[in-house]
Amino acid sequence: MTVHQKRRAQIAKALKAAGGGIALLPTAPERPRNRDSDFPYRHDSYFYYLTGFSEPDSWLAIDSSGKTTLFCRPKDLEREIWDGIRLGPKAAVASLQVDQAFSVAELDTQMPLLLSNQAAVWFPFATHPGLETQVDGWLGKVRARIRFGAECPQSQHDLCKLLDEMRLIKDAHEIAILRRAGSISAGAHVRAMQTSAAMLRKPVKGGLREYHLEAELLHEFRRHGSQFPAYTSIVAAGANACILHYRADTAELKTGDLCLIDAGCELDGYASDITRTFPANGTFTPAQRTLYDIVLAAQEAAIKVTKPGKRFTDPHDAATRVLVQGMLDTGLLDKKKHGHVDDVLLSGAYRQFYMHRTGHWMGMDVHDCGDYTEPGSKPRQERDPLGEMVMKKPPRILRPGMVLTIEPGLYVRPAKGVPKEFWNIGIRIEDDALVTATGCELMTRGVPVKADEIEALMRG
Ligand code: GLY
Ligand code: MN
Ligand code: MN
Repeated sequence: MTVHQKRRAQIAKALKAAGGGIALLPTAPERPRNRDSDFPYRHDSYFYYLTGFSEPDSWLAIDSSGKTTLFCRPKDLEREIWDGIRLGPKAAVASLQVDQAFSVAELDTQMPLLLSNQAAVWFPFATHPGLETQVDGWLGKVRARIRFGAECPQSQHDLCKLLDEMRLIKDAHEIAILRRAGSISAGAHVRAMQTSAAMLRKPVKGGLREYHLEAELLHEFRRHGSQFPAYTSIVAAGANACILHYRADTAELKTGDLCLIDAGCELDGYASDITRTFPANGTFTPAQRTLYDIVLAAQEAAIKVTKPGKRFTDPHDAATRVLVQGMLDTGLLDKKKHGHVDDVLLSGAYRQFYMHRTGHWMGMDVHDCGDYTEPGSKPRQERDPLGEMVMKKPPRILRPGMVLTIEPGLYVRPAKGVPKEFWNIGIRIEDDALVTATGCELMTRGVPVKADEIEALMRG
């Protein structure tokens, strides 16, 4: 059995356990950019998870008996001259190990037949615009045939619920790709650091620009077979690092500036997500180094508690505690005004310098699917960061096979009361962690993270 067959069998088993039914799943549509140009095509992650097939206009149906049906674009020699070879339904059966395959042109005639006499229909809710209407149309056709003995499904369920839980725990096939994606991206960060130092050693006309380093990242991703970046790369010179969703633009990187790069490739449908912050010329200033070491210590504290049995929020809490201590030690937060670490954690004053979470699930999508709270648990009363009592479900318990990022940061905008030496410094350090039986494996450590090691690499 291929990994995709195994996953489809798991869905069939879940449908059976839920009383029978059929699951329907389209892939992503092509998106026109203008006239004859489309945006680069990217399949739907759920669909790809169950098929490994990345042609647009495709659908999958799985019923609780395990029978699988694929719809795909028909062979069309004229279109294939322009757009490339299509697998076609005939070859799809053997190639994708499905039980039957039809042209997507037959979707509206075949779907009502597939839906007839099924207890329930499962499809992704609120994911594909217009899908609910399409399913309604097919159910209407089934109902029109009731007189002829067809029974209409009695309930509809969100297929994401089943798939999210499956995708949250990565299998060996996925882990192998994630490791490779992490390694390619780490190599790209190394290349960007080296290029930055080299271009400042031997200045070029027009200076070193953010886009120069983005070009190095893209070159390294692509030359190792990555299809595209997993998200828009951030290459932020100096103060731009304090803009969380900055992109690589035209700003110049000068000696004395830090450069924050948040970039990762997508490889064979799987993401990677790395951030490194380094001195453009290869040497940290004392103020930069002080803040850098605080962020690194925060990341180390978070890594220590990224292990089975801990909660998803434990790495965030551990990192935030270290960051807050650092804010008080450096005077970013005035001890006299803000008190001790616990006072700052309660007041939330640290959000002036650390305003995001320390991680997210990662997998096929950079912000991957999966509940962040423990399934089946009851909401309990908790104090939220602003002091309000709210009902919350307890955070997810970490288990082997989960993949999450660990990405603390500090972002210092100029402000009254903030020591000037730290103004405009923005630092984030991000790695991708696979939860193992005893702790976690960092899949992205092919690029140095310690300040001394970054300096040594950039000297080389
Ligand atoms: N690169 C997206 C993120 O770090 O969440
Ligand atoms: Mn991230
Ligand atoms: Mn990132």
